[in-house]
Amino acid sequence: MAAQHTKLPWWKTGPIYQIYPRSFLDTNGDGLGDLEGIRRKLDYLQDMGVRGIWLSPLYPSPLYDFGYDITNYHDIDPVFGSLETFKLLVREAETRGISLIMDMVLNHTSHLHPWFIESRSSRDNPKRDWYIWKDGPRGPSGKGYPNNWMAAFGGHAWTWDKPTEQYYLHLFTEEQPDLNWRNPEVQKAMLAEMQFWLDLGVKGFRLDVINYLVKDAQFRNNPYHFRMTYPRRHDLQHHQFDRNQPETYEIVHRIRSLMDRYAGASEDTMLVGEVYPDEGVHAPDLAATYIGIGKDLLHLAFDFSTIYTSLTAADLHSVLQTWYGVLSPSAWPCHVLSNHDQSRAASRLCAGSDSEAKKRVLAALLHTQRGTPFLYYGEEIGMEDGVIARKDLQDPLGKKYYPFHPGRDRSRTPMQWTRESAAGFTNGRPWLPVNRDYRERNVEAQQRDPSSLLHWYRDLITLRQEEPALLDGSIEFFETGLQENVLAYVRRKAGSEVLVVLNVSGQTRPNPIRRGGTVLLSTHRKPQGTIEHDTRLAPWECTVYK
Ligand code: GLC
Ligand code: CA
Repeated sequence: MAAQHTKLPWWKTGPIYQIYPRSFLDTNGDGLGDLEGIRRKLDYLQDMGVRGIWLSPLYPSPLYDFGYDITNYHDIDPVFGSLETFKLLVREAETRGISLIMDMVLNHTSHLHPWFIESRSSRDNPKRDWYIWKDGPRGPSGKGYPNNWMAAFGGHAWTWDKPTEQYYLHLFTEEQPDLNWRNPEVQKAMLAEMQFWLDLGVKGFRLDVINYLVKDAQFRNNPYHFRMTYPRRHDLQHHQFDRNQPETYEIVHRIRSLMDRYAGASEDTMLVGEVYPDEGVHAPDLAATYIGIGKDLLHLAFDFSTIYTSLTAADLHSVLQTWYGVLSPSAWPCHVLSNHDQSRAASRLCAGSDSEAKKRVLAALLHTQRGTPFLYYGEEIGMEDGVIARKDLQDPLGKKYYPFHPGRDRSRTPMQWTRESAAGFTNGRPWLPVNRDYRERNVEAQQRDPSSLLHWYRDLITLRQEEPALLDGSIEFFETGLQENVLAYVRRKAGSEVLVVLNVSGQTRPNPIRRGGTVLLSTHRKPQGTIEHDTRLAPWECTVYK
């Protein structure tokens, strides 16, 4: 099996699994997940067929944004372990064929990062220009903000700093000052930080809000743009000038060159970018511009359209078809249904009746599309959003906008391993409450049950690895099924064809593919059984055949 695909780099051959380290497994009873916890679960991930792990930030952080505010880019926060434990993790993952990628937050640091402490210390400090400082409109001590930019986590994007009487820019919390990426020294320093991890054997990076790095040189006001949203003024602007500036591509290209130096013959380093569009807007075209076209940029970029879609064959088809349509033929797609910022797909798309069946449809979709599937921890057991009481909120977004926005803690609840107390996540008090359903929904129970969602994920992952047409074949949709809410497509590679039919409805439906075949994997049929050309699909049936 492995031999025929050795040409493909690791990040094309299997899913990449995102771990939110605080919530994965706690091994010392402090209620916070740690590196040792991840290490102990490597066998679990290997058994599932995971080929890469994206680790949400592990660096020292004062936690104003739970690790996305970093005070030292080349160390591990003691809460998670040490660089020594990290090195061990890299090695042990590698022996299991699993590569690690780090979350790299380039746009901003913590306000407690030594660079910012220096920068704010005086106007003529050599690091002053590493961040973005501005006078108010009426001179040094003038009132009024430098422009209309708003912060994602509430309020203006500018904070007045009394000692030196200027504003600094922060597109997130005021404890996350934005770096000045127009300054070559910043670029050099950050590339050195990335190199640090590459030297330790890390195989790539997930680049946080990569499209935010460079800001308009003239700091023009963003145009207003009305939309229905929770009361966040940030969303009432079109983010024309505080992100997506053309100079960003130059920087991405420079990062890519660094990666290529570490890539070896098998292209085994990888960059995946979080390209954040205006809130709620489908912008696959924007994400696509960050993938290497012409000159080399990112290997992969997230298109968040799947985050804003609904669970119907027509919508899923439209999102996917658009995504493939905007990618250049040589670009490799990836797909993501859930992450640490969004409501989990299991709740967002699968709520209500038949929710377990819906989760299977999404899983089948994810693993039979073109490109790399990204999984978010717990997705494989169908973990749903937690219900977090106001007093337990940790996320700055939730604290600011509750109850209009519940915050992001709901998708960060502890991994559900067992039916023991705290779901086997910790012996102590978990940093966020464990979901209520952990006694029924946990890894241990699903490992024992061959008909569980966990087994369905494993089977899909294996199938994708075994069938060249699924791994890197072309795709063609059968649009005739869409009005019946059936998503059907054929994957083709070198004369071999794999057919996929997903009934995205709770009713019996005809198979729009007027062909029969041998079943490879199905929610309703035995493997190696047959499916007839005129078969009717059971409610929520997923069948892959050839
Ligand atoms: C990204 C991260 C999010 C974080 C923000 C600021 O969107 O995914 O968790 O809060 O960037 O770093
Ligand atoms: Ca711990």
